[in-house]
Amino acid sequence: MNDDKFSAIEEDIDLSPKKIERLEKTLEDLKVEEEVFDKYTLMTLYELSRRGYLDGLMGFVKTGKEANVARGVRGDDLVAVKIYRVATSDFRRMWRYLRGDHRVKVRGRRRHRIVYTWAEREFKNLLAAHRAGIRSPEPYAHMNNVIVMEFLGDDEGNPYPLLKYHPPEDPETAEEVLWNILDDYHRLYTEGGIVHGDLSEYNILYAGDGEYYIIDFSQGVPTDHPMAEELLVRDVSNLLRFFARQGTDVPGVEEAVSHVKGG
Ligand SMILES: Nc1ncnc2c1ncn2[C@@H]1O[C@H](COP(=O)(O)OP(=O)(O)OP(=O)(O)O)[C@@H](O)[C@H]1O
Ligand SMILES: [Mg+2]
Repeated sequence: MNDDKFSAIEEDIDLSPKKIERLEKTLEDLKVEEEVFDKYTLMTLYELSRRGYLDGLMGFVKTGKEANVARGVRGDDLVAVKIYRVATSDFRRMWRYLRGDHRVKVRGRRRHRIVYTWAEREFKNLLAAHRAGIRSPEPYAHMNNVIVMEFLGDDEGNPYPLLKYHPPEDPETAEEVLWNILDDYHRLYTEGGIVHGDLSEYNILYAGDGEYYIIDFSQGVPTDHPMAEELLVRDVSNLLRFFARQGTDVPGVEEAVSHVKGG
């Protein structure tokens, strides 16, 4: 199996009759119901499976307005497949974030281009986080509006619960988790060169016994982005607010932010 990270945006997806025939066969293998996805998404899933990143899909973990997360299979492993919906995404908000980000270039202003670039950027953020060694899903592949990454959950395919609904079991564990997350954020900032941008108890999974994962890097921006400082302060404030409500001893926002920036 190919272990290289794969990232591509395909401009023109051509649907020749021969390709459609193969696509239909693959979709059968993938157990995808065609009505669920538009034809570009189907084509993208087809390409990802052709390249060996996906052998099948087993239902959705979560469906939302902007993105659906599906349970995927690759060999003996489960993978998470995040699929952005082109029709219902808030592309104006996406545009605002993408504009100041020197790592990506939106080619044209058409809706699907913006959504593709949004997914591309999330993939880059996941790579930066993973390389900085923080507890986050390992990204495997990106193509168009689809990201394939490590599945974080049990063997039955249930994702770990959100920190919001499954907080740390006791005050000592909670304090340890808080400081580990702040240490992670320090590495994300200094080594990864990004801020998360949407950190809260809704984007952290908690497996129990102090084991957590930071997810959803879709709003991450480089530390030199015009919105970076504001987003960093908001992320840290969200985190401290949640832990304070658990009865954890928390540092002040300024102290925590300077821990993240330079420690
Ligand atoms: N790698 C993963 N492994 C297991 N479950 C995941 C993974 N990534 C996401 N999920 C599940 O899917 C849910 C939604 O994912 P995520 O937070 O990335 O997207 P979102 O909030 O819907 O989208 P947006 O990018 O618009 O903020 C998560 O709360 C989690 O339950
Ligand atoms: Mg989320």
